[in-house]
Amino acid sequence: MACMIRAVARRLSRQRFGVRFSSISSVVYERYGNPEEVLQLQTEDAIQPKADEIAFQMLAAPINPADINMIQGTYGMKATFPAIAGNEGVGRITAIGSSVTSKIKIGDHFVPNRPFWGTWRSGGVCPANDILIVPNDISPVSMSMMFVNPTTAYRMLEDFETLNEGDVVIQNGSNSGVGQAVIQIAAARNLKTINVIRARPDLIEITDYLTSLGATEVVTEEFAQSRKLRELIQTMGKPKLALNCVGGKSATALLQNLQQSGTMVTYGGMSRRPISVGTGMMIFSDLKLCGYWQSRWNDSNANSPALTKMLEDLYALVRADKLKMPRHEPRALSEFQEAVKKAWEPMTTTKQVFSMVR
Ligand SMILES: NC(=O)c1ccc[n+]([C@@H]2O[C@H](COP(=O)([O-])OP(=O)(O)OC[C@H]3O[C@@H](n4cnc5c(N)ncnc54)[C@H](OP(=O)(O)O)[C@@H]3O)[C@@H](O)[C@H]2O)c1
Repeated sequence: MACMIRAVARRLSRQRFGVRFSSISSVVYERYGNPEEVLQLQTEDAIQPKADEIAFQMLAAPINPADINMIQGTYGMKATFPAIAGNEGVGRITAIGSSVTSKIKIGDHFVPNRPFWGTWRSGGVCPANDILIVPNDISPVSMSMMFVNPTTAYRMLEDFETLNEGDVVIQNGSNSGVGQAVIQIAAARNLKTINVIRARPDLIEITDYLTSLGATEVVTEEFAQSRKLRELIQTMGKPKLALNCVGGKSATALLQNLQQSGTMVTYGGMSRRPISVGTGMMIFSDLKLCGYWQSRWNDSNANSPALTKMLEDLYALVRADKLKMPRHEPRALSEFQEAVKKAWEPMTTTKQVFSMVR
């Protein structure tokens, strides 16, 4: 009997409630389409977690191109409707169901550990298995942007070519979130980077900014698609690895400047133009063309030593101030229309980030 009472008391004491919310706001969609047309803000009563669930408050969640593609229905995975928008973000645990492992505590920060989790919301409940606990000492805004772009940058620098100090990596879309992470992770590994960006009115400012992050060279698309890049490479060495998120002529310029048997990894297609490859590049230069998708890597690496090492390395870089997240504009959920529109605008070099604690 005493045993039973203790068990019930333990269960009750574990179903704790830190912060209570009376209502929850979420940015939702019930069909694919233009985000301006299909997204809406929904408010509903907060509910308590079931035995295997946690309740949470979201702290911050960025808007990434993939989020928009998911809403448009053009992403490599399909949503189940109604869906809450947003895939990346950080939350804080506010209550824990009675059967959830004691390793999870109220106040812990977490990130989603599966796609279509729905981060553009103020809070909610979810299965405890759908989250990954992360350190609380990294700011919510930084943590909210760690698990898509820096992980992609890290893996592309690790998994395709053996890169040694002094080796050269070339990339396009270098002012993107991924591009900025590539610059910083490469600099921390003493790799040299050639960073291609589109010409823009604030070219000097963006060049200085990327250089301050550790970029070795920043050049425009026009420069990269001319003989000037070949001349630059003569002084730096030919790149072993190219990272392409643009496609079209931009990708071809990267390929033309790779060293013999080098690799180009394509991870995005922002120009929506196909990649064209000269036959000689394949036969005589023996170039390798690969694709990379972080979601696929996550699927096959849940709880793997490679995941643990990557996160430890990335956390260490953030703590040492060697990996900064992109500049961002904080947004309330209620500003979702404007934020999504701004996130899709060209040449901003600024992330839109929903900030739920203001
Ligand atoms: N495969 C994966 O696992 C994976 C993971 C993360 C990200 N991604 C992809 O990587 C890309 C960048 O993501 P992000 O979050 O880093 O993006 P972001 O910070 O929003 O930056 C977008 C980038 O795309 C460039 N861009 C936009 N439209 C363009 C066009 N028409 N032609 C050429 N460049 C254009 C922008 O350049 P301007 O400043 O000149 O507009 C900017 O450099 C996206 O395609 C995203 O889906 C893929």
